[in-house]
Amino acid sequence: MSSLSDLAGIGRDPRRGGYSRHGFDRAELELRGWFAAEAARRGLDLETDRNGNLWAWWGSPGPNAVVTGSHLDSVPGGGAFDGPLGVVSALEAVDSLRAKGFAPGKPLAVVVFAEEEGGRFGVPCLGSRLLTGTIKPDAALRLTDPAGVSLADAVTAAGLDPARFGRDDEALARIGCFVELHVEQGKGLTVPVGLATSILAHGRWRFTFTGQGNHAGTTMIDDRRDPMLPAAQLVRAARLAAVGDARATVGRLVPNPGGTNVIASTVDVWLDARAPQGVRELVEEISEEAFRAADEEACQLIVREESYGDTVVFDAGLRDELAGVLGGVPALPTGAGHDAGILAARVPTAMLFVRNPTGISHAPEEHAEPDDCAAGVVALATVLEHLAR
Ligand code: HGY
Ligand code: MN
Ligand code: MN
Repeated sequence: MSSLSDLAGIGRDPRRGGYSRHGFDRAELELRGWFAAEAARRGLDLETDRNGNLWAWWGSPGPNAVVTGSHLDSVPGGGAFDGPLGVVSALEAVDSLRAKGFAPGKPLAVVVFAEEEGGRFGVPCLGSRLLTGTIKPDAALRLTDPAGVSLADAVTAAGLDPARFGRDDEALARIGCFVELHVEQGKGLTVPVGLATSILAHGRWRFTFTGQGNHAGTTMIDDRRDPMLPAAQLVRAARLAAVGDARATVGRLVPNPGGTNVIASTVDVWLDARAPQGVRELVEEISEEAFRAADEEACQLIVREESYGDTVVFDAGLRDELAGVLGGVPALPTGAGHDAGILAARVPTAMLFVRNPTGISHAPEEHAEPDDCAAGVVALATVLEHLAR
């Protein structure tokens, strides 16, 4: 059997707590090695597609395949369940179907998508966006990580050919349907397993404030052009603008050069904005305040949209079919993005959620009870048997 404990020692982050496992970095490559070994142990044929997504096939790859899986990368200092639970549960579901003698009537694959969190290159669901053509390969390959390493260089170092990156209609044509199991990331699920109805529209914007670097002790207040001031105003404006069901978050703010006794010359601030509708209007409102605050401090501001996705409504027919197969489980929306949200535009897609008792996610405290995880495997195996019979 596979289990999350297999992964417990990979990519631990002693400074942040939790795990830091990012696209094609050492930890994630180690996780890929684990997945390859698990696939081999089961006699599943492992394929790395042109965009670096991994596919473990039960039966030869072919049309109308039933595909399940998730991602192995994490946010910085993330929890143990977001992503890996879906991959481990898929492997365990294959084990339980085999143990009962089930032989799929269709090809079945367990997939691991690359860089779902965008924790290294900044764009979420990078592997599934490349697969579906939601992001162009040249735009993706020139993305850089905080150390300035491009995606092109990172994937080359991982043994992939950047020239092959791009929309993969052949891989997509094989997928009959995709079901992703994921730990629930809110407190909406009060029973062990549920289904997803929709994903909130969401995107990421980069605000770059430019002022004048200077000495903290010799520069009088009136002589300053300190980009940290409008940056701080942006953080507050985001919170004030996020009313109703909207959410606006600044979790990442990077002053340059970042010295304690130095007035910053530039400050980069990343805004994560989400809402059922009107995300761009929300960002527009926040940006107006950011520009006003920048003017007040005689600083410049550049705002760049780094990623955006509309609200995703999952295939209601598939969702209701699976709810029936599972004997009636609740269906709920999520504010979290997923690779299933990207695939949903191209193939019939559903999501299974496993209860998260505290609702905490993207933090070391993220947790799901073993009994609920086991219920998730049973539900996924039931769904896969139904779809692949
Ligand atoms: O940001 C998200 O919602 C997802 O975890 N990538
Ligand atoms: Mn996540
Ligand atoms: Mn996830």
